[in-house]
Amino acid sequence: MQFEIETTPANAIYKLLIGMVAPRPIALITSMDEEGRLNAAPFSAYNYFGIDPPIIGVGIQNRPAEPATPKDTARNIRRTGEFVVNVVTEDIAQKMNICATDFPAEMSEVELAGFTTVPSQLVKVPRIAEAHAALECREYATMEIGSSRIVLGRVVAIFVEDHYVDPAGPYIKAEELHAIGRMNGLGNYVRTRDAFMTIPRIPYEQWKKNRQ
Ligand SMILES: Cc1cc2nc3c(=O)[nH]c(=O)nc-3n(C[C@H](O)[C@H](O)[C@H](O)COP(=O)(O)O)c2cc1C
Repeated sequence: MQFEIETTPANAIYKLLIGMVAPRPIALITSMDEEGRLNAAPFSAYNYFGIDPPIIGVGIQNRPAEPATPKDTARNIRRTGEFVVNVVTEDIAQKMNICATDFPAEMSEVELAGFTTVPSQLVKVPRIAEAHAALECREYATMEIGSSRIVLGRVVAIFVEDHYVDPAGPYIKAEELHAIGRMNGLGNYVRTRDAFMTIPRIPYEQWKKNRQ
């Protein structure tokens, strides 16, 4: 099938994109409003984009209803400039999904999902205690493009539980962390348990030798 963007409804394009740009890591973002009310929501339009300084990016769509309003996460980041990306692993997947429910503003997703929080190192926004790794971020820039916001966050502190770190790198022991990925809009996710392929990088000299 072929789809022309001009004649394809935006929600169809969304469904195609999220099934094709997959699997995607999931950022469970904690953020706070000006009164210190905590919010948590998952975002899979998420990746890292820079190392020095460390930059991550998150795509946050406006709520579909008219008039267009930003999601609480986007609004909080704009107003307070801080957020935490909590890494989503298999053991917290169900709770993460509860945080995506459109609860009324006065209800706390964090509590309703059964999460608890602990203070972060540098930002006011706490991290999720049940998450095994987290990135503390300050807003670097936000681009508004149509109904989307692309939030770039500068990572100011990193937390990983000790036993998930191989100090030799330091590498993350991905085969033990069990992060999950989002596959499409049908509630499908991928486990990373038992699914590892190791493909070492090939230096050019080695590549030439292999051809001989
Ligand atoms: C796994 C998962 C990934 C999601 N990824 C995104 C995303 O990348 N961008 C987005 O705007 N919404 C995404 N959502 C929907 C938001 O989590 C949902 O709209 C949430 O209610 C927003 O909460 P907030 O208003 O508290 O920010 C995702 C939902 C799930 C379950």
